[in-house]
Amino acid sequence: MENIQITSDGKLNHLLSIEGLSKKIIEDIFLKADSFLDSNNNNVKKVDLLNGKTIFNLFFENSTRTRTTFEIAAKKLSADVINLNVDTSSQSKGESILDTINNLIAMHADMFVIRHGQSGAPYFIAKNIDSRIKVINAGDGNHAHPTQGLLDAYTIRHFKKEFHNLKIAIIGDIKHSRVARSDINALNLLGVPEIRVVGPNTLIPSGIEDLGVIPYSNMNDGIKDVDVIMMLRLQKERMDNALIPSQEEYFKAYGLTKERMLLANKNAIVMHPGPMNRGVEIESAVADSKQAVILSQVSFGIAIRMAVMAILLED
Ligand code: CP
Repeated sequence: MENIQITSDGKLNHLLSIEGLSKKIIEDIFLKADSFLDSNNNNVKKVDLLNGKTIFNLFFENSTRTRTTFEIAAKKLSADVINLNVDTSSQSKGESILDTINNLIAMHADMFVIRHGQSGAPYFIAKNIDSRIKVINAGDGNHAHPTQGLLDAYTIRHFKKEFHNLKIAIIGDIKHSRVARSDINALNLLGVPEIRVVGPNTLIPSGIEDLGVIPYSNMNDGIKDVDVIMMLRLQKERMDNALIPSQEEYFKAYGLTKERMLLANKNAIVMHPGPMNRGVEIESAVADSKQAVILSQVSFGIAIRMAVMAILLED
C-alpha cells in the first residue's frame, strides 16, 4: 500500500498504522503528549490549539475507551467534535461510505476518526477524499489500532522509563488482534530487544517471527522473567470456528493468575487494552492488583490522542 500517512518532507499526514512511521515521529508524539500532562498528577490540561477545527468520530464498530477518549481529547484541544451515530445515519439507507464522508466534508470537517470492521477502510477513505482532510484509524478489522499501540508504548515509557532493556510478553489471541500488531510495530521501532507472543498455536499466525517476535505456546515459559505482560481478549466475533477447546481450558492454560505472576520479573506491570474478560484471560486478583496499569493506559490514551490530533491539525 502507498504510504499516504507521511508527507514528502517526512511529516505525519494521517495516522493509519504504526507500520511506515519513523521512531522520530513516535518520539515527537510522546513529547507532545508530555506537554499536555500536568506534571503533578498526570491530568490533561485544556488548551486552545484546535479552536475552530471540526472533528467527526465515525465508529462503525462498538467502542467504550477509544471513542470516548478521542472525544475528550478533541474537547481538551478546544475542537468541535461530532459523534455520528452510524446506526441512525443514512448509511442504513444504502449511502456509500464515501458519499457519507463527502457530505460531512461539505459540513466543514477537518478530521475523521474512524473505526471500522473492515481492514483497510480508513486507508481507503484517506486515499479518496480531499487531501487536506486528516484521517485517524481508531481500529480497522484485525489490521491496526495505531493510537492503542502508541498509548501502550507511552504507558510502558511512563512506568519503565527505557525500552532498550525490556522483555515484553503479549499473551492471548494474537491472530485476530489489531492491538497486538500495532504494539509489536511500535515496540520494535522503540528498540525493545525481546518481544514474545504467547498463546495456543491456533491463535498465533504462522510466520509471526517475521515481525521480530518470539512465539511461545507454553504460558509459563512465555512469561518467565518478563518486565511487561500485555493480556489480550479472545476475539470470538472474528473467529470463523472454535479455535480453543473451551474458555475453562483456555484459562487453565493461558489465564494470568497470581500464581503465574510469580514467574515474571517481580516489578512486572500488567496491561490490557480492554475490554477485559475476567476469568477468561485474567484473574480479578491480578487485574485489580498494584501491578496492573490497565486504567493508566486509558488515562494516557487522552494525552496521546490529543498529541496525534494536534500534530495533524495544528496550523
Ligand atoms: N482498547 C479499545 O480499543 O477499547 P474499545 O473497544 O473500548 O475502544
